[in-house]
Amino acid sequence: MTRKSDELKKIAACYSETLKSDVLGRPFRFESAVRSTNDVARQWVADGAVHGAMVFADEQTHGKGRHGRVWRTQPGVNLTFSLVLRPELATDSFPLLALVAALAVVTMLERHFPALAISVKWPNDVLIDRRKCAGILLESSIGTNDDENYVIMGVGINVNQISFPEELQEKATSLFLETGLAQDRIGLLVDFLVEMEDQMKRLMQDKSRFLRNFEGYLAGIGAGVHLNVLDSRPAVSGTILGITRDGSLRLRTESGTLIVNAGDVTFDDATLE
Ligand code: BTN
Repeated sequence: MTRKSDELKKIAACYSETLKSDVLGRPFRFESAVRSTNDVARQWVADGAVHGAMVFADEQTHGKGRHGRVWRTQPGVNLTFSLVLRPELATDSFPLLALVAALAVVTMLERHFPALAISVKWPNDVLIDRRKCAGILLESSIGTNDDENYVIMGVGINVNQISFPEELQEKATSLFLETGLAQDRIGLLVDFLVEMEDQMKRLMQDKSRFLRNFEGYLAGIGAGVHLNVLDSRPAVSGTILGITRDGSLRLRTESGTLIVNAGDVTFDDATLE
């Protein structure tokens, strides 16, 4: 047995002993290195994975970010995992799960680190101050039968990474860098799953209240912040007004209110300082 697989067994045992969620996170797989946990989860669905199944990897060789970008994290120190979700939601509400996941990360982090300024950059980047600490990638499948409808929800949280490449230093952070202390990855994962379960229930019970709560964490809201939505051509500048019932971003622009359902928000530095 290699040291690496010994370590992984210990991590998995700790997870299994401390898992507190009712449904999410079971069954689970702990892998030392995979291309992408989202890909493993999708293959697992083809092999019959149920709602709640979770795959964790200590290292991803081809981690995926939103909009076809690459998600690179240092092996062995961060959280990279994916959940299989078959939620009792209409398929046109599946995109809201990205907001659910972001809110679950934020509320989990807030409980652990009440002194940190944690927010969400629409749609689901989790920031500490202005640096990104976590990202979420949702990949949905919608078919003709109910059993073809599922979501793979991949989450990456920078936990104990001590440095970032130069080009990311102003943009990325980790919990270690923010607190000066090494953090318990599995403790955070177990607590995230409890929050995720809770936020999913909140969405289903009272969508308006869920969205208001989400807006409370939205970076740049109400501050008259200018931004660019990079995926639209040309980029637009506006003020964030809030989110719509389907989770799109509502902006006030020079030509009126604009609803954006996909894209990347970049803050105008001058307005956020
Ligand atoms: C983003 O902010 O662009 C989304 C990043 C999502 C990264 C996670 S890590 C676990 C899962 N597997 C992947 O390949 N990507 C997601």
